[in-house]
Amino acid sequence: MSKAHKKLEKNINLMAVWIVVVVSIAGLVELLPLVAQEQIIEPSEGIEPYPPLQLAGRDVYVREGCYVCHSQQVRPFRSETERYGPYSVAGESVYDRPFQWGSKRTGPDLARVGGRYSDDWHRIHLLNPRDVVPESNMPGYPWLAEATIDGADIQNRMRALMRLGDPYTEEQVEGAPDAVAGKTEMDAVIAYLQGMGITRTGR
Ligand code: HEC
Repeated sequence: MSKAHKKLEKNINLMAVWIVVVVSIAGLVELLPLVAQEQIIEPSEGIEPYPPLQLAGRDVYVREGCYVCHSQQVRPFRSETERYGPYSVAGESVYDRPFQWGSKRTGPDLARVGGRYSDDWHRIHLLNPRDVVPESNMPGYPWLAEATIDGADIQNRMRALMRLGDPYTEEQVEGAPDAVAGKTEMDAVIAYLQGMGITRTGR
């Protein structure tokens, strides 16, 4: 054993400092390439910030904790791509704050669920999943059909996202109240689900 090594092994303070140095270098080696890689923060082709109704639906999805049972990340394995569709890439989630990748799958992954079912199917399913999937243990969300979307609130959310760099235009923000007028939270969640993997991959 070298002299320096002997000293390090016998001095706990020196060892602590050394551990911090080593872990920091290891951390930087993992993190820095991600920061430098443009593709991580560049939207994939066809990926746009959420239109107002989908944005409202996304917020309901987060509020209701749908992510507790559903992931939104198709992993790059054959068993996954055959079941769900093309695997997910980082550029699909640049406008997701926070992202909804998740890892818990009590229910199926939803990243590619857009267009798989009709709006009516979703409506019945969200009111009471057992009406369309008898063995389902997903809870029903009947209150979503009662609550309406507040246009001014969505405008504020869009403005906040603009501040974070989302390229909404002033016209889009101005038009938001019309886009959500008379819509329920149920309509919004369905719009969000139907856009998944479609508006988000340009598919
Ligand atoms: C307690 C766990 C749980 C929660 C919470 C949950 N789900 Fe589910 N979900 C499931 C299960 C299990 C299934 C599969 C059976 C079925 O289709 O009902 C499912 C199925 C689905 C499907 C059909 C997916 C497919 O590919 O067939 C959609 C869409 C869906 N859930 C949306 C939602 C939304 C939106 C929310 C939040 C409002 C939500 N889920 C909350 C468990 C859950």
